[in-house]
Amino acid sequence: MKRQADSAESKAGGRSIAAASTNVVWHHASVTRARREAMNGHAGCVIWFTGLSGSGKSTLAHALEEELHRMGCRTYVLDGDNVRHGLCGDLGFSDAERQENIRRIGEVAKLFMEAGIIVLTAFISPYRADRQRVRGLMGHGELLEVYCACPLAVCEQRDVKGLYKKARLGEVKNFTGITAPYEAPEKPELTIDTTHDLVGCVKQIIELLRQRGKIPDAPER
Ligand SMILES: Nc1ncnc2c1ncn2[C@@H]1O[C@H](COP(=O)(O)OP(=O)(O)OP(=O)(O)O)[C@@H](O)[C@H]1O
Ligand SMILES: [Mg+2]
Repeated sequence: MKRQADSAESKAGGRSIAAASTNVVWHHASVTRARREAMNGHAGCVIWFTGLSGSGKSTLAHALEEELHRMGCRTYVLDGDNVRHGLCGDLGFSDAERQENIRRIGEVAKLFMEAGIIVLTAFISPYRADRQRVRGLMGHGELLEVYCACPLAVCEQRDVKGLYKKARLGEVKNFTGITAPYEAPEKPELTIDTTHDLVGCVKQIIELLRQRGKIPDAPER
């Protein structure tokens, strides 16, 4: 069966992107997603963390992964800085490059999800339109957007990477929350107050995954 990529243009979440690859035909795997998910004992999905720098996306994603791993789930974290070392190492922080960064991550997250994995992504992803585009790549209910809500003042006080200080001094350009905008989600699947205890935050997401039928009520492995 052919996919849209064999036309001159393909659609990504309603946005047309130039498709440089023509005459490519999708090959269907015999080991299907359903078989992978049955083997794993849970569904593949994407948990998309968004929020200011220092709001706790990485901390929460890795703490959640620890808990899911302990429960026997297959997981993988795609984290901002790590991805920018390789896959997106050629991209800077202009609006266009941030958009391309998120597009690539969305496509990678989708591949992992189709492999039956619970993907946790930890990117500021400041623009609603970019996040919406990623949502558009996935099927209904496959992406769970988790907004790490934390006041700018708290993030700046944490200043985990020392970047807020540099941004205030003008040494880092286009810094989200200071010299670049952050557009909070309007309808995230979950908003988490990350000024509260981490364990409680993890529990809220585990509960969300259960409610949405992504993981069983009492996973045994
Ligand atoms: N409930 C919480 N959830 C997450 N992080 C918390 C929480 N409470 C306190 N923290 C602290 O907040 C900081 C969050 O830093 P973290 O690197 O996870 O942010 P980030 O959103 O990934 O930032 P960046 O976009 O710069 O990568 C950590 O020092 C963490 O220990
Ligand atoms: Mg991080």
